[in-house]
Amino acid sequence: MSNTTYNRGLFPKTRMRRNRKSPSLRGLVQESNLSTSSLIQPLFVMEGNKKSEPVDTMPGINRLSPDLILEEAKILSSLGISALAIFPAIEKSKKSLFCEEAHNPKGLIQQTIKLVKKYVPDLMLITDVALDPYTVHGHDGVLDQNGFIDNDETNKILTKQALSHAEAGADIVGPSDMMDGRILNLREAFEKNQFENTGIMAYSAKFASNYYGPFRSAIGTSQSSADIDKSSYQMDFHNSDEALHECALDLKEGADILLIKPGMPYLDIISKVKETFRVPTFAYQVSGEYSMHCLAIERKIFDKDAIIMESLTAFKRAGADAILTYFAKEAAQIIQKPGNSQYR
Ligand code: PBG
Repeated sequence: MSNTTYNRGLFPKTRMRRNRKSPSLRGLVQESNLSTSSLIQPLFVMEGNKKSEPVDTMPGINRLSPDLILEEAKILSSLGISALAIFPAIEKSKKSLFCEEAHNPKGLIQQTIKLVKKYVPDLMLITDVALDPYTVHGHDGVLDQNGFIDNDETNKILTKQALSHAEAGADIVGPSDMMDGRILNLREAFEKNQFENTGIMAYSAKFASNYYGPFRSAIGTSQSSADIDKSSYQMDFHNSDEALHECALDLKEGADILLIKPGMPYLDIISKVKETFRVPTFAYQVSGEYSMHCLAIERKIFDKDAIIMESLTAFKRAGADAILTYFAKEAAQIIQKPGNSQYR
């Protein structure tokens, strides 16, 4: 705290409640604000036509076939949402040891990107660069003879995968795999192939977290986070200096945006990263955080609109510029609801 704060008058010269007297006064002194344009909606895509399948572990979330992703994209765009983050649920028969499907130009994700960019070009598309939907074991990379994730071999496949996303028209790729050196690999490949304007949102500080469990069942990699241990590549949740180190490396390698994940239990990391680097910093309110909130809302422990807005505004206060959240659509609707001027 700076001296200016201490030098202010004591009670009764200073009464903190004076600035809290009315909604409009509170509006004037409000320091952070959640706007629809900073929301990114993650969506799960699956094969088929007119198919929608509920994700058991995530109330209200469905896997959608590409045509329905397009319909949803139109709605989200008209609500003012800036971007989608799309994740594929890949059929078992297309999974393999070396993930050929990950860079198939006619693959599920590649086709979905083309379709959405054709009809909703202004909506930014962020893709997931990682192999977990495509490996038989659900890890984010390929295994060496000892069963260890092979960093450099994985990077080669990730680079092909990212190029196939860029070719299909992705605006930003999001490497969520946590291999070393992958940002450099991707950036060099993009420069070489005339994709110099394709962005990289690096999942720089991605912690090995139990909060990913519902996502893993959504994309069909496992039933719970206990089934699969990613701690040889994702970060140890005891650490924060290491998160800054990861971010520094990704920036040097050519990242445009840093992402911190999970979100709410990691607000300290978001805050430090923003303070340290002063670059675009995004947060991911992950599947477990979403489902936790939904269950408490269902049990009427929380008021839905109020808790969604509080949980998301906390990210802005911590310093996040944009937020990936499964509540994006609902938050946009809450912000726009007549009578909800306190949220605008
Ligand atoms: C994996 C990936 C994960 C998430 C996004 N990409 C899970 C994992 O690392 O196992 C989690 C997102 C969420 O929980 O909402 N590449």
